[in-house]
Amino acid sequence: MVLKTFARGVAFSAAALLATVCVEAQTTPAVLTIHADQPVSKVSPTLYGLMTEEINYSYDGGLYAEMVRNRTFRSDWTGILNWLQVEDGNARAQMTADEKTGPSDALKTSLRIDVKQADPRNQAGVLNEGYWGMAVRPGATYKGSFYAKAGSGDLGAVTVSLVNNASGKAVATAVVPQISTAWKQYEFTLKTGAIQASADNHLAITVGHAGTLWLDLVSLFPPTYHDRANGNRIDLMEKLAAMHPAFLRFPGGNYLEGDHIAERYDWKKTIGPLVDRPTHPSPWSYHSSDGLGLLEFLEWCEDLKMQPVLAVYAGYSMAQEHVNPGSDLKPYVQDALDEIAYATGGADTKWGAIRVRDGHPQPFKLTYVEIGNEDNFDRSGSYDGRYAQFYKAIKARYPDLQLIATTPVKGIRPDVVDDHYYVHATKFYEDAAHYDKTDRNGPKIFVGEWATKEGSPTPTFDAALGDAAWMTGLERNSDIIVMAAYAPLLVNVNPGGMQWAPDLIGYDALRSYGSPSYYAQVLFASHLGDQTLGSKLQGAGDRFFYSITRDSAKKRLYLKLVNASSAPQPVEIEFAGVRLAATGTLVSLSAHSTQATNTMEQPKEIVPVETALRGVSSHLHHTMPGYSIQLIQVDVQ
Ligand code: AHR
Repeated sequence: MVLKTFARGVAFSAAALLATVCVEAQTTPAVLTIHADQPVSKVSPTLYGLMTEEINYSYDGGLYAEMVRNRTFRSDWTGILNWLQVEDGNARAQMTADEKTGPSDALKTSLRIDVKQADPRNQAGVLNEGYWGMAVRPGATYKGSFYAKAGSGDLGAVTVSLVNNASGKAVATAVVPQISTAWKQYEFTLKTGAIQASADNHLAITVGHAGTLWLDLVSLFPPTYHDRANGNRIDLMEKLAAMHPAFLRFPGGNYLEGDHIAERYDWKKTIGPLVDRPTHPSPWSYHSSDGLGLLEFLEWCEDLKMQPVLAVYAGYSMAQEHVNPGSDLKPYVQDALDEIAYATGGADTKWGAIRVRDGHPQPFKLTYVEIGNEDNFDRSGSYDGRYAQFYKAIKARYPDLQLIATTPVKGIRPDVVDDHYYVHATKFYEDAAHYDKTDRNGPKIFVGEWATKEGSPTPTFDAALGDAAWMTGLERNSDIIVMAAYAPLLVNVNPGGMQWAPDLIGYDALRSYGSPSYYAQVLFASHLGDQTLGSKLQGAGDRFFYSITRDSAKKRLYLKLVNASSAPQPVEIEFAGVRLAATGTLVSLSAHSTQATNTMEQPKEIVPVETALRGVSSHLHHTMPGYSIQLIQVDVQ
């Protein structure tokens, strides 16, 4: 057959291209026979999804669009974190953390600013540095608020400005005319004009009169995805949407467990008005604002049409602290039942009504609940008992829920077991057939965390090759692998922002980029199919991997190919038992070096390149370039 490819409107002969490439090829052609009329197994429609937690400034300083860092004024021996004094000209002020007053029972500490001297031209107050700056864009509206009280009525107006760090000039200003002597929330709006987009900005809050001002919960949001109040960053949500995720596993990860039981993810402290959320330490060395709390996780699912995979705290925290099964564990089991009720209950139920109060009348649909995280690390051996206690209580109330165990358990058969893998690419090449022989009568599998651990802060192309090889095995076995998620997902690439490498998507306050592994995920998840097909591969090198699926509704075949060798791999592809349409699509992700990658400065170094295929027939001569991941999409006539 004559296969022609068209890239960016330029036609060239695939046969001619093939001839050139074949000269360089190190190996003889492999033969891949696809039996398109022989479905083998079902592909799980929920195979690809997201796993996230508060790590690498994923939410605070990441997806959660809040621009103010440490908005509730925590301090250590160095002083109040992320806040500095402002003293223009001869203005003088002193800021301190005041543990005696705050706007709520949850927020009992506030910032006290004693202004000794100030006038309208020489203002005094504080500034917040943001999460490595604050991103401002031209013609944008920023919505802000703070809780405040004044020592006396003559403090006067409070000025709020976004200020460029380099020029010292305000790019947007608002005035709150008067502050009362009792705690109250104030709102303001900052609008930018024709400025240059930049992350090099801070927020200043100042007064032009001597007196005392207390502040708490100072907040500033840019426009958010779907325009949600207290919402998420648009660029990151768009990148996640492009991954076509079927589910979101949350809230962790280690973030669920905490280092200590008292530092676990205590969901009841993450709902309701922000002023009623006390915040909590995360195990990843920084504090969580809990602005992205349980309801926000669920709304994130709603926005991206993902199903929630809710992980409930199961009585184990990472410093080898555990709760004994039995009466000690009962309150934690009750918390989990309440959490499920908050997500799924009707307005006529106690916790459903609280969700309605919080602004979401519709219950969320829930299929999977995960009991704990990585309980194989619990050296006390208490997980068998803890899992059984949660399992029985949840099944008694919610018999249809699928309950995930974080490690194999004795005495009870879990619905699903969660497996985690963080390995080098070579290990994934060796292990791509890991699930081929797994017992089909055992529990279903959730590969709840996996990644080729190469590259920092984001993966190299070698990692993307390892990932893609591994994903061919996930797809082939997705009759038992119901879900799988790359982890971690997000990283703030600023110095000090990262606790774990590599991570799929990198960003700073203003910009974001996808790694080669991100594009491999997008490629696989956007071309999933619903059935695997019979196939046979002969004569390929040991770094060649593939997956063949069919989308029955679209009458479409997806052939994913991975060549993790530096040498091109010629393949004769035979489509048996089918008549193909004459046109198709080839999408190619490749690099010259295993160490090539994308960065903030060069975000598009490695991106998928789409080419139209013409003259497709049941026999395809194809050559995979060295180090490449490809998708061939063809329609069935
Ligand atoms: O993904 C990073 C961490 O790896 C997760 O928090 C934990 O579950 C795993 O050990």
